Amino acid sequence: MDNRPIGIFDSGVGGTSVWREIEKLLPNEDTIYLADSKNAPYGEKSKEEILQLSVKNIDFLLSRGCKLIVVACNTATTNAISHVRKQYNVPFIGTEPAIKPAALRSKSKTVGVLATKGTLSSELFFATSQNHAGHINKVVQVGTGLVPLIEAGKVHSEETKKLLQTYLEPMLAAGMDYLVLGCTHYPYLIPVLKEMIPPHVEILDSGAAIARQTMAILKENNLLANPEKEGDHQFYTNADPDILASFLSDVEAKHKTAYLDF
Ligand code: DGL
Repeated sequence: MDNRPIGIFDSGVGGTSVWREIEKLLPNEDTIYLADSKNAPYGEKSKEEILQLSVKNIDFLLSRGCKLIVVACNTATTNAISHVRKQYNVPFIGTEPAIKPAALRSKSKTVGVLATKGTLSSELFFATSQNHAGHINKVVQVGTGLVPLIEAGKVHSEETKKLLQTYLEPMLAAGMDYLVLGCTHYPYLIPVLKEMIPPHVEILDSGAAIARQTMAILKENNLLANPEKEGDHQFYTNADPDILASFLSDVEAKHKTAYLDF
């Protein structure tokens, strides 16, 4: 049994979509969440910059005694996870676009993938696409501008809808039946996306799979928390804490959100 917290980080508020799944599946676990919103978007940065920022976030979480780190960011995972796994002696859970399940389930053999430039240009994304979805037509789109709009709390704005329309058009024209959300910010766009795509198109994100993997690794390493206790949750942002809190308003009673200059 190990009651130390799980550390979770993202370039901003998006990784709370992953935190939700973790909290649902592992309600006894304490968590510390870092939203590095001051440095968002990671998706436009170089591999070296993404690695440096990831190391900064991990060092902070480890200084708070975290037992496992969830990289709740596709961009940080695809660019930095192999390095940090070698550098640190704690288990890491990464987030990657769910192209494998999409490829397995797609009937039209055409899937849309919406993710950041950093993720789509990474070696890891290229390898996963080749190995698990090589036989599938992938309509891949960089979601330029979406992360800053979500970080500004403009999920339902006309600007966001216009961008999505442009990004979805070629995917729909190609006949996709699965849309992979390869950025942890994008699940917050699902209500908007559902108004724009036909009902037979399934939307896939990685949150639930990450939570299952977190549970498996905690079990395997004997790191699960006391099943009798309720999890305690701390959320830190280096930007506006009200924006982060607005993404957690439905779970407010359970969390503490604070500004921190990390
Ligand atoms: N949530 C991050 C991801 O999953 C967003 C990256 C960014 O800041 O551009 O990729």
